[in-house]
Amino acid sequence: MLFLHSPNFIYFYTMASQQYNGKQVTLDFGPLGATSFANKLDAYAGQKILILVDENTQQHCLDYLLTSFEQLAQAEVLVIPPGEESKSIELVVQLWDLLLAYEVTKKDLLLCLGGGVVTDIGGFIASTYKRGLDVIMIPTTLLCMVDAAIGGKNGIDFQGVKNIIGCTKQAQHIFIDPAFLSTLPINELRSGWAECIKHALINGPELWQRLQKISPIIDWANFQLDSALFWELILTKIQIVEQDPLELTLRKVLNLGHTLGHAIEAHQLQINAPITHGNAVAWGILIEAMIAAQQGLLSESDLIEISALITSIFEPLKWEQLNVAVLSAFLDQDKKNQDQKWRYVALKKAGEYEMNSVIHPHELDAALKALQSMK
Ligand SMILES: NC(=O)c1ccc[n+]([C@@H]2O[C@H](COP(=O)([O-])OP(=O)(O)OC[C@H]3O[C@@H](n4cnc5c(N)ncnc54)[C@H](O)[C@@H]3O)[C@@H](O)[C@H]2O)c1
Repeated sequence: MLFLHSPNFIYFYTMASQQYNGKQVTLDFGPLGATSFANKLDAYAGQKILILVDENTQQHCLDYLLTSFEQLAQAEVLVIPPGEESKSIELVVQLWDLLLAYEVTKKDLLLCLGGGVVTDIGGFIASTYKRGLDVIMIPTTLLCMVDAAIGGKNGIDFQGVKNIIGCTKQAQHIFIDPAFLSTLPINELRSGWAECIKHALINGPELWQRLQKISPIIDWANFQLDSALFWELILTKIQIVEQDPLELTLRKVLNLGHTLGHAIEAHQLQINAPITHGNAVAWGILIEAMIAAQQGLLSESDLIEISALITSIFEPLKWEQLNVAVLSAFLDQDKKNQDQKWRYVALKKAGEYEMNSVIHPHELDAALKALQSMK
């Protein structure tokens, strides 16, 4: 039992578990062994169960599942390389081939055990193979726990553009067990924190204040998160997905920071200097906040708060290499573009935003220059 002996786990294992049973999302939050996970697996007795992992979650997370749940004794394990490069059509084809070779049917189950890369690809495979098989998400990164595993959006990158191919299919169940975070590297914990910041800003002033208060005192080497706060960050995403599962209206707000975040992430990948999704999103949140302030939507004092938090947590980028020309190649491909204009979620203050605002190149230029001059 790899996990139970680590001192970092005591806190998590004594926490109360939470459940959410909605129209779109069915989720358990708490120690996996104390949830309905085993019962869920019982429902697939006689069916094939496949577990999708990447090499890191194979090493750090898989043993716990295999040794704790006898229902998984015969499970086939599919291992993919870690990292964003795996979100490719070539890898999807290889996985489709394997499902055919294993004679997987629509009644079988795919378990995704990993971060957002594993859940995005696994969700896509589970949506497309035979027009859909059951999928259960077990996120193992902070980012995936509060965001990527929830809401059924899945997909891959194509021709260098992030998440450009994909669809929406809700998972049968999501099991969030924070114990998996004990092996997650610090830069990945920080990456997940970016989406927590996003959720707090979307949620409103109360959650945003709480997040600002605890951020400076987080001990990243012994990461523990108050389970009530953790649950509220998760609920922020669930409540949005419940109201707008197909991202026709409200769900678009979850793109806060992502117009610039995706462009930065794709650019870094192209120049062979990849950064975490969350690191890109964190700077995306700040750049977009700077643009919202230039447009008179966000107050200077709110911008200062956002800037102070983000600059205190996230590694600065090589700002001298980032300019409008470099980023526009990616911004031009953004799914939210309309009338050939770049669109973003403009924050007015915590909990208030405009959904479809325009980014003008000169505003982006001014924001990037301000970051270049920051010490
Ligand atoms: N579908 C959505 O709604 C949605 C939302 C947000 C982000 N995403 C996507 O999620 C991806 C980013 O997800 P991520 O940050 O989880 O990245 P990731 O899946 O690449 O995981 C980050 C790293 O941590 C490793 N890892 C995972 N769990 C571990 C553990 N418990 N111990 C040790 N190592 C572990 C992984 O192998 C990887 O190297 C991006 O592709 C992004 O586009 C999707």
